[in-house]
Amino acid sequence: TGPETVSPTGQPTGADQARVAQSGAYLTTAQGTRLYDTDHSLKAGPRGPVLLQDHHLREKIMHFDHERIPERVVHARGAGAHGVFQSYGTAAGVTKAAFLAADAETPVFVRFSTVLGSRGSADTVRDTRGFATKFYTEEGVFDLVGNNIPVFFIQDAIKFPDVIHAGKPHPDREIPQAQSAHDTFWDFVSLHTEAQHHAMWNMSDRGIPRSYRTMEGFGVHTFRLVNAEGATTLVKFHWKPKLGVHSQVWEEAQITGGVDPDFHRRDLADAIEAGAYPQWELGIQTFPDTPEQTFEGIDLLDPTKIVPEELAPVRPIGLLTLNRNPSNFFAETEQVAFHVGHLVPGIDVTDDPLLAGRLFSYLDTQITRLAGPNFNQIPINRPHAPVNDMLRDGFHQQAVHTGVAPYKPNSLDGGCPFFAGADTGAFVEVPVELPAARKVREAPASFADHFSQARLFWLSMTPVEREHIVAAYTFELGKCYEQAVKERQLLALANIDPELCAQVAAGLGLPAPEATQPLADVRPSPALSQVGGEWPAD
Ligand code: HEM
Repeated sequence: TGPETVSPTGQPTGADQARVAQSGAYLTTAQGTRLYDTDHSLKAGPRGPVLLQDHHLREKIMHFDHERIPERVVHARGAGAHGVFQSYGTAAGVTKAAFLAADAETPVFVRFSTVLGSRGSADTVRDTRGFATKFYTEEGVFDLVGNNIPVFFIQDAIKFPDVIHAGKPHPDREIPQAQSAHDTFWDFVSLHTEAQHHAMWNMSDRGIPRSYRTMEGFGVHTFRLVNAEGATTLVKFHWKPKLGVHSQVWEEAQITGGVDPDFHRRDLADAIEAGAYPQWELGIQTFPDTPEQTFEGIDLLDPTKIVPEELAPVRPIGLLTLNRNPSNFFAETEQVAFHVGHLVPGIDVTDDPLLAGRLFSYLDTQITRLAGPNFNQIPINRPHAPVNDMLRDGFHQQAVHTGVAPYKPNSLDGGCPFFAGADTGAFVEVPVELPAARKVREAPASFADHFSQARLFWLSMTPVEREHIVAAYTFELGKCYEQAVKERQLLALANIDPELCAQVAAGLGLPAPEATQPLADVRPSPALSQVGGEWPAD
């Protein structure tokens, strides 16, 4: 403990005080008063009534009664780890972010999660996985809040409550707890066909990862990088696991889910404890920042679309190593608060309408989940850069602010306002030109293509991967009670690929419908396959 973290009386202060929650040889009350017994209530005689004056009993039970906080509204089930990010410096030409400069090393905290299950649900269910990384950079916190699937179900955040309502357990029976095998999910996906691409990834082996250590991660949205000269580049972020991408087969996932519902969190913690530190390379696909924000005809603002790696290779820019388990799950993994709006100079957002809603949602939900606006002061969320803000008071305020004038300019607290500029490390939004526009509630025409990339994914799979996809659709749709939902989803599959549709229809014992629109003319993208090797003839 350095001198700056010890008070004149020798007590730890600041972050260390938060870490050293327990000290001293004696058990005490929360007020530090030593206790002689914590096993018996104070009573009027050994068989007599318990006395209200037992302040220790009241404190102990009161605190226990409030131990739980709300679980995350989505991504409630997760596991985290600390680590370090080592930059290769290969992105230094396109971004001025200091943590991406050559040889920069940045502490990180990563939380992996499932999306739909509750906090106590099993790890190995078929679902999307969260892959959220907090970089504690010297310029402030940067969060890359991604998933293990590079696309999302919807194109506009206003539909996020709807898709989650459809994906969460049915409101009447609370079934199923954590899987996509139910009527409301398939009702939504078949009525909102922009969700077909993401759903296809869920039905593939990507939906049942072998380990967090063998998952890819994706920032999904297109972001905007800015370099030291002010030049901008559009970018998609990718995490590539050093161990390769591996999944379980469905039967394995059933067994691991039953025998060890903690399969993924145990695997992560055991590997780190054994010194087998998991590693991922961070990579970027870059695109010219043109006014259209498209690349090879793909709308970069549409989060249901990927850009195949054949068209834009992923360039490695750094290495993530997870090397330390949390010492307290609640303090770290449960209280960590990620937010897509935690940006640093050199990385900015684009006008992806899904991203816009996320920029509101994370901060908003954390006010409820972490009880008030001061969750940035919880040790796991504290920036490692100096903080000098004018935010004051509020629930759970830990700081003792000095001065009398939390506004600028002021003439009382040292007077002169001290603002940084772009040249002194301030985050300055990219002054993007906006076209003249009228207010509308509508999507661009380019968002109307819902099937071509689902077809691209299907065509990119090897025969064994296709078998798994057909089996997954058949099993999951087979759990639906409503015939009309199954039929509507089969119609969507027909518009993706007639053979896929025919096989799933046969498995369900239903007729295969005809496609209602021409099949998209797309070429397979081998990088999408986990298996490699032989591709089907078409
Ligand atoms: C939580 C990813 C879309 C709202 C999370 C987490 C991840 C994630 C990884 C878990 C963070 C953690 O470990 O604590 C994504 C991705 C999205 C997406 C990749 C699409 C590309 C959205 C949208 C909204 C949203 C559109 C709302 C409009 C939330 C909320 C939480 C959450 C409220 C819980 C946060 C908390 O309680 O701390 N998301 N999400 N997400 N997401 Fe998203």
